[in-house]
Amino acid sequence: MADSPVSTHDPKDAAAPDLATPQQQKQMESAYANMKRKMSMQEIGRKIKHKVMVLSGKGGVGKSTVSTGLALALAQQGHAVGILDIDITGPNVPKMMGLERKRLHVEQGRIHPAQGHLGVKVISMAFLLENEDTPVVWRGPIKLGAIQQFIGDVEWGELDYLVIDFPPGTSDEPLTVAQSLPEIDGMVIVTTPQDVALLDSRKSITFSESLKVPVLGVVENMSGYTISGKAQPSMEIEIAGPGGKKHKTTADSDGNFNVTLDIFKQGGGKSTAEEFGVPFLGALPFDPGFVRGGDDGVHRIVSEPEGASAIAFAKVVEAIKSQIGASESQGLEII
Ligand SMILES: Nc1ncnc2c1ncn2[C@@H]1O[C@H](COP(=O)(O)OP(=O)(O)O)[C@@H](O)[C@H]1O
Ligand SMILES: [Mg+2]
Repeated sequence: MADSPVSTHDPKDAAAPDLATPQQQKQMESAYANMKRKMSMQEIGRKIKHKVMVLSGKGGVGKSTVSTGLALALAQQGHAVGILDIDITGPNVPKMMGLERKRLHVEQGRIHPAQGHLGVKVISMAFLLENEDTPVVWRGPIKLGAIQQFIGDVEWGELDYLVIDFPPGTSDEPLTVAQSLPEIDGMVIVTTPQDVALLDSRKSITFSESLKVPVLGVVENMSGYTISGKAQPSMEIEIAGPGGKKHKTTADSDGNFNVTLDIFKQGGGKSTAEEFGVPFLGALPFDPGFVRGGDDGVHRIVSEPEGASAIAFAKVVEAIKSQIGASESQGLEII
């Protein structure tokens, strides 16, 4: 009888010998919540075929413009697409997707994404802000916890592609996402042709090594300025660009022509990619329509689905798809 577990109990516990202390109960609840979140991350991982991170070393190079553009170009091609906007301090994806001041719908503890242009599903930290003019200042661990929770609690449904937009720099956010979401296909690094941005994008490539996420390639944004015009059919045209550089083209049979002028030095993205042995995914022109689209909430790809920028995005999307296909078939990981 001395070995019986009952004998060790205080008599006043006898009525409920299995009750955990409040502290134990808390631990169990938190372990259960963690396990549930992990399972839901795994499920999200399964339901989303491809996950692509969009990074840059420097702010203002057009990362959010590229993320939204890629998502819309993929949606244009008939894919089911989502965007996860991780930038807590300056989230501007909702605006670009025509979803300003939207609030998220929560059902049975699951967060449902808002639907933007072309049916693209959008989750943004901006949806959590009471007032969009007040930047959120969250300290590290709270911010990263919120990101994990955000990833685990969203009901994306089945997606072909999830594009993840980050704040600038090589900070903790990409690491948290890379550790939380299983099977990320890779990262797209956005750069502009200027030297400073180039230096930073080199940092991003090195950073990818520590994340163990493959680099799908480099995109050069704001790479040239395309002007369009009308002339006599088949006419030869010569235009002087910045710095006096001459650009030649020929009008088509209807007299339409396009010329892309270099505003910054061109080709930096390509040379960075070559130097690091990662693919160059293409160049996107400087297009004032992106700035307007950011202001009025209609993305360039939606307002001009067949314009020069939409065509350039479609090419970048093809390059990304072929990189994803290549790494799938060869098990390739550039780290
Ligand atoms: N290709 C482009 N042509 C013209 N303006 C652009 C282009 N890409 C981005 N922009 C503009 O540059 C600014 C910064 O872009 P954004 O995508 O918010 O950069 P990031 O997310 O890297 O901080 C925005 O006003 C945007 O409209
Ligand atoms: Mg941004």
